[in-house]
Amino acid sequence: MVDFHSHILFGVDDGSENLEMSIKMIEQSISEGVKILAMTPHHNPGMYEHAMNSRTEYNEKFDFLKRKFEDRIEIIPSVEIMISEGIMEELESGKLFGYNGSKTLLIEYNLLDYPQYAEGLFYKLKKLGYQVILAHPERNKALREDPEVLYHLHDLGVFFQLNAGSLLGQFGEKTETFARKLIERNMFHAIGSDGHKDKSRDMRIRHAYETVKELNPELYENIMENGPKLIKGEEIQVLPSKPWADMVRVKKKKRRKKSILDLFRF
Ligand SMILES: [Fe+2]
Repeated sequence: MVDFHSHILFGVDDGSENLEMSIKMIEQSISEGVKILAMTPHHNPGMYEHAMNSRTEYNEKFDFLKRKFEDRIEIIPSVEIMISEGIMEELESGKLFGYNGSKTLLIEYNLLDYPQYAEGLFYKLKKLGYQVILAHPERNKALREDPEVLYHLHDLGVFFQLNAGSLLGQFGEKTETFARKLIERNMFHAIGSDGHKDKSRDMRIRHAYETVKELNPELYENIMENGPKLIKGEEIQVLPSKPWADMVRVKKKKRRKKSILDLFRF
């Protein structure tokens, strides 16, 4: 199993508070059966900038944890990047980087809406050879209300990362229901614990892999095969998405209304 998303880098954001907590979190990850674990501290200008502004500190802490656990789990460096129009510059300057230093990026939206410039930005990034993984789309209210937007991103080649906690009801019933629907429609490509602490929002992830296996065995096989490749920045083959039934119903309703009006007209 691969964990694409965690806040095990201590003392830089709202994740792990100290070395002891990071050690407990990594131990939990090992006991869950994770073999490759990504370290993805927040980069959110004005809120969480410490990790990317202090690269020496990032590297020292990363090296320490990687070496301490190297026989038991592979820890991969990365960043959870809050979307902004300045991303391109920060990538070009080398301030930001993808998984294992690759061009495969973990990007998040805020939880309420999505920026209109996102599709254009992702298109530009793709042209420059980047692969984008959108963090926990199921947690975003606007995407839940308009899943068609996710289908556009999917067509652009954007990947989606499921938060394990979403399937535990940690973010509410709507998030859990939406996550399950996306799993059924092949709309996830990676799974992450998004673990922040050693308790409550922790490193549990096995249940998420099991739920994907139960709801969509074909997707489970695909994610198991692709995970180790995607996290190293390699290209992967994804399954085609299945249509969003609710969207189809809405479209049919609109069409029916139009035909009734037509009858009256004649
Ligand atoms: Fe996160």
